[in-house]
Amino acid sequence: MNDKPGQTFELTDSSAGRSASLPVRAGTIGPAGLDISHLQPELDVFTYDPGFGMTAATESRITYIDGDAGVLLYRGYPIEQLAEKSSFMEVTYLLLIGELPTAKQLAEFSGHIRYHTMINETLLRFFNGFHHNAHPMAMVSAVVASMSAFYHDTMDIHNPRHREIFAHRIIAKIPTIAAAAHKHSLGQPFIYPRNDLDYAANLLNMLFAVPCEPYKVDPIAAKALDLLFVLHADHEQNASTSTVRLAGSTGANPYAAISAGVSALWGPAHGGANEAVLSMLEQIGTVDNIPKYLAMAKDKTSHFRLMGFGHRVYKNFDPRAKIIREMTHKVLAALGRDDNPLLELALRLEEIALKDEYFISRKLYPNVDFYSGVIYSAIGIPRSMFTVMFAVARTVGWVAHWQEMISDPHMRIGRPRQLYTGAPRRDYIPVSKRT
Ligand code: CMC
Repeated sequence: MNDKPGQTFELTDSSAGRSASLPVRAGTIGPAGLDISHLQPELDVFTYDPGFGMTAATESRITYIDGDAGVLLYRGYPIEQLAEKSSFMEVTYLLLIGELPTAKQLAEFSGHIRYHTMINETLLRFFNGFHHNAHPMAMVSAVVASMSAFYHDTMDIHNPRHREIFAHRIIAKIPTIAAAAHKHSLGQPFIYPRNDLDYAANLLNMLFAVPCEPYKVDPIAAKALDLLFVLHADHEQNASTSTVRLAGSTGANPYAAISAGVSALWGPAHGGANEAVLSMLEQIGTVDNIPKYLAMAKDKTSHFRLMGFGHRVYKNFDPRAKIIREMTHKVLAALGRDDNPLLELALRLEEIALKDEYFISRKLYPNVDFYSGVIYSAIGIPRSMFTVMFAVARTVGWVAHWQEMISDPHMRIGRPRQLYTGAPRRDYIPVSKRT
């Protein structure tokens, strides 16, 4: 991050006759940031920014979004090019290391991930402690946090080799944990990972194979899942990534930080939206009901929102949603399920909402979660596992951001301030004297 030469903002508090000169910091692309780190000592005020809509909490080299133009770059590469030409393992390397790998580097890296997929048997037994109808996100978050109880020997966050081992472990094992959560819900035996399969195919095998008969992963499903993982791998300082950074900034072990990220992702305003979209489409049921539900979404007295619509940063089409919508048609056609009524309903809902003044004026467009559930369903993934799939992919982004933060020599604990609006100082009254 550089000072923008000569560019400063002067802020004056005329009542107190004080002023502060705020330097402007430039990134490589995108708007510059106003450095307010000396605001409080100089003017005795903080900034007030609920939801952090205008606050950059860090500099980062990983992902860039231009929300007005609908642009998403991983390490500078457009998401459209990565979606078309790359693979999840290659994107994982890119996000973690910063550059695309050579063929040799990719083979070596994929090998590390492929050969660390098993989890400790004791950890596997943790699942038995959960009720059969526990939500898989609850199990995944708990089991990821529990990994810290197994790897004391490699949890020195200041040791780069330990950090690398952690990165490989969590990325390799999160599909195994995800699949175990699903198998526990079904009451089926856990299926061990198969190192001859690639990342997505191995996950599908662990989700759907059973010990009593052969199971062959459908290559169309594996390719679709790999592509969805590419699209979900990172999205700069979103709520769950910021949660991972905040938890990690305390020096907490990285498994605890990732588990915090899983929990943050679960909410319906974030990764939980993919599950909520399918529930909403089923609730709407038919095209005739769309106006009724759109009216509810616009009604501020109702809690109903159009799930899969709107985004804090994108005020244009989410580029991932465009890719997924196109992919949905192809995947359903390839699977012979192109007469999918939920897809038809989603398409009509999008069309009607995008012509509606409420959505136009607020720049609310379909986001990544609007169509992803339709594909997940088509490849047999149950609704309660949608957000888990998101978590598997986003683990890569969380790890990349955690690594970036911990290796920054200027890292500080994350600690937002507040505008206190409670009672002013007052004296304690003994209970006998209170009226
Ligand atoms: N349906 C109806 N109205 C909406 C919606 C929606 N989905 N999203 C935003 N609005 C309205 C909101 O009521 C507000 O209206 P007004 O100005 O009249 O008060 C205006 O649009 C601005 O919304 P906001 O709540 O200030 O926007 P935000 O940046 O705080 O929230 C969001 C972003 C994604 C949480 C929100 O758009 C939302 O709840 N969407 C539905 C849930 C969803 O699809 N989440 C997935 C996000 S993308 C993937 C991910 O992050 O994991």
